[in-house]
Amino acid sequence: MTGDNLGFFSSTSALWALVMTSLVFSIAAVLASVRRNRRRVVEKLPPAEPERRLLREFEKNGNSASAALVKWTPATVRRILAEELPDAQVIVVSNREPYIHDLKGDKVELVVPASGLVSALEPITRACAGTWIAYGGGTADRLMVDQNDRVMVPPDDPSYTLRRVWLTEEEHQGYYLGFANEGLWPLCHIAFTRPVFRESDWQTYEAVNRKFADTVVSEARNERPIVLVQDYHFALLPRMIRERLPQAIVITFWHIPWPNSEVFSICPWREKILDGLLGSSIIGFHTQFHCNNFIESVDRFLESRIEREDAAISYGGQTSLVHAYPISIEWPPALLGSLPPTDQCRAVVFARYGIAEGVKLCVGVERLDYTKGILDRFHALDHLFATHPEWIGRVTFLQVAAPSRGTLTSYRQLHEECQRLAEDLNQRYGRDGYKPVVMVAEHHTQRQVYEIYRAADLCMVTSLHDGMNLVAKEFVASRDDEQGVLVLSAFAGAARELLEALIVNPYDAAMMAEAMLQGLMMAPEEQCSRMRRMREIVADNNVYRWAGSMLMDAARLRKRDELDLERGAPPPPSNVVPLAERRYMAVR
Ligand code: G6P
Repeated sequence: MTGDNLGFFSSTSALWALVMTSLVFSIAAVLASVRRNRRRVVEKLPPAEPERRLLREFEKNGNSASAALVKWTPATVRRILAEELPDAQVIVVSNREPYIHDLKGDKVELVVPASGLVSALEPITRACAGTWIAYGGGTADRLMVDQNDRVMVPPDDPSYTLRRVWLTEEEHQGYYLGFANEGLWPLCHIAFTRPVFRESDWQTYEAVNRKFADTVVSEARNERPIVLVQDYHFALLPRMIRERLPQAIVITFWHIPWPNSEVFSICPWREKILDGLLGSSIIGFHTQFHCNNFIESVDRFLESRIEREDAAISYGGQTSLVHAYPISIEWPPALLGSLPPTDQCRAVVFARYGIAEGVKLCVGVERLDYTKGILDRFHALDHLFATHPEWIGRVTFLQVAAPSRGTLTSYRQLHEECQRLAEDLNQRYGRDGYKPVVMVAEHHTQRQVYEIYRAADLCMVTSLHDGMNLVAKEFVASRDDEQGVLVLSAFAGAARELLEALIVNPYDAAMMAEAMLQGLMMAPEEQCSRMRRMREIVADNNVYRWAGSMLMDAARLRKRDELDLERGAPPPPSNVVPLAERRYMAVR
């Protein structure tokens, strides 16, 4: 883009102009990028140079076609930060912390929680050397922090700061268990569990969001941090940050689905939630479908201007972009290098869970959650045995389920039902030394989980509804032997990318049983070609692309803001008080 072009963006309608222009540019740039690619082969550039050129192209035009050709690594993310967002401080905010310190007897144990959000954001925060603000929920968490409630993590290679926020029992109950997990979680997932909305939970949710806003302000080293707000625990936080740090770039990522506007309308505080989220510069979802649902909800409940084609919402004098960024995992997974070959993993796992040699192994790995379709896959196994009794004795289902949100009735009931159904199947189809279902409702380490993936003949991800589901991607990443079959729910975001999985409707036990059968009998050659393709997809669409794309978008917004300021556009509307004072307000 030339200086002349840039002059065009100084008007108050800069964003619209930017988005419209980048659309026109994208088409030209796709063609240009194809031409450049051809030229590059002729020029025989060293490997780093094409990547740099593509990144520059991406930066200039917002061109996702060029972005698609970039090899995304931690270095790419670091380079975007250094070159496009120099001096930017990256602050991540989530409820769940990446490392929990728990007391075990008189020892402190380190736990990495079972959370897709954590597994995706951890390598990114490491790459950015950022600050991660999260609820300190571990029993030894307070013992491990300094006087500012900070601790450097990961413990064996300190790379970024974890800033812990303390919550009282009442705060945790009302904000996390109550409003977030009994209200918003079932509201956003189509799993037919009724959301519960209590006024007192809502008030606590608001108060806790404010507490996190105070912490963001106190951690900000300047007026313009990049704040990555994570998930449904913090719908009100973007607006609160915007009011206190008007020049911050706030990118909010909603890790779970967004329901259609009819479903969303049952939330008594729907307008406040939308208003809170629209404090963000960018709101991200895993799929375009969820972006559309969100835009529909805003359209229905708020006075706003919506430019559908540009995925932009203007509301209260500010514009938010609504984009799809499909989340992923690090590639290659750091753990993989230290794991033994798949046959050894198989031997370890079979011995650990008492599974007889020669049996085919199906696995399910997740949190014990009613959205994951655990009971449904047990029904499918039942159906398989009923219709194909020759498989009795020849297949075992290993279900690993990390207990989650266990004080809530819906989760307790699910746990009991899963145990009951597993026992029932074992009674009906088990024999001496053979258990068709091994259900282990315990937290497993990442290493144990990867061993299980590598031991499996078939992995079942049968969520009733899921934003993305990273288990599907982790399973694929773990199989460098290019063997194993993935059975994947059509209602998980991952099904839009992993088309070579056996895609199923988890509500249809007969269909799932058929998919299991197909998977159990699939020839190694077919497993290999499906797995190879899926591995290519996950390698390309890795978590560095997810974060890098958001940071590139943040860089574009920042440049636009800078141009507006240079050209004398009015400062962002806000009741701005100097940073020092705001800090004081935050710690009071
Ligand atoms: C989902 C949510 C995350 C959450 C994770 C684990 O993936 O989107 O925000 O961290 O579940 O749940 P938990 O309640 O244990 O943090």
